Amino acid sequence: MSDLKLAAVIGWPIHHSRSPKLHGHWLKQYGISGTYIALPIRPDDLADCLPRLPKMGFTGCNLTIPHKEIVLPLVDEIDAAAQAVGAVNTVTFRDGRIFGTNTDVYGFMEYLRVSVPGFRADAGPAVVLGAGGASRAVLYGLVEAGAREIRVVNRSKARAEALIQHFARPGLTLHAVDEAGAAEAVAGASLLVNATSLGMTGQPDHTITLDGLAAGAIVYDLVYSPLETSLLRQAKARGLRTVDGLGMLLYQAKPAFERFFGVTPEIDDALRAAVLA
Ligand SMILES: NC(=O)c1ccc[n+]([C@@H]2O[C@H](COP(=O)([O-])OP(=O)(O)OC[C@H]3O[C@@H](n4cnc5c(N)ncnc54)[C@H](OP(=O)(O)O)[C@@H]3O)[C@@H](O)[C@H]2O)c1
Repeated sequence: MSDLKLAAVIGWPIHHSRSPKLHGHWLKQYGISGTYIALPIRPDDLADCLPRLPKMGFTGCNLTIPHKEIVLPLVDEIDAAAQAVGAVNTVTFRDGRIFGTNTDVYGFMEYLRVSVPGFRADAGPAVVLGAGGASRAVLYGLVEAGAREIRVVNRSKARAEALIQHFARPGLTLHAVDEAGAAEAVAGASLLVNATSLGMTGQPDHTITLDGLAAGAIVYDLVYSPLETSLLRQAKARGLRTVDGLGMLLYQAKPAFERFFGVTPEIDDALRAAVLA
């Protein structure tokens, strides 16, 4: 077998993906004989294409829109994070089997811990805006980290309700709120996470006000384009602590790179610059 290690990100469309830049930077930095490419695969073709990749020398791949859920029946094994989130964003091929995981949970929590040393999920109520795929990863991360109260605010309340039912467990208080209840949900919260596409370039902006957040609260925006969203600007102007979305993108790639190429990569300013370029 060749020494050249191959990995990919699969999506449809895929031209926007920053993953080849990210993994390419690390491959160069660590002098690894490997390649990470973007593979445009139609949703209908995933079942046919995925099992062929190991035969072509791929060690694994990342999956992005619209494949994260479609891939579930195609993997032989998934871990607890992927199971709880209901989506797989990384697969690895080993001994003729396909393993699936979800590294968004790690990416979200790890960057939060790096950005806010001493972060405690049980420090106060958390507000999560959005009830889509990213929100599931956020909720699972916070619940596993010991959050005691989470308020999910979403345009369609039914989706927020389905989400809180999924994560219900003893000792955890969960609320589902529509946008009309947002101000009340924000009151006294120590963490606010935006997991909607609001504020992203080309999308509408938030109407939410941060007035009621606890002093010293953390505002974490998963949107990374633009890097400084209006929500983060609003938070900074109030002297709140802020966490941007680019770090999560970088940190979710770390365990994937480790699995594909066998090296634990560092996240530093050079990587941020390479991905932003
Ligand atoms: N930094 C990272 O590494 C990272 C990772 C994953 C995702 N993200 C970002 O997180 C965001 C959400 O991604 P996703 O995968 O969860 O998407 P998704 O599953 O499509 O969910 C989108 C969410 O945004 C809400 N939304 C969309 N347009 C809205 C509008 N005009 N008004 C109010 N709410 C609106 C949706 O509400 P409804 O349910 O009512 O439709 C839903 O809650 C995206 O911006 C994505 O780029 C970042």
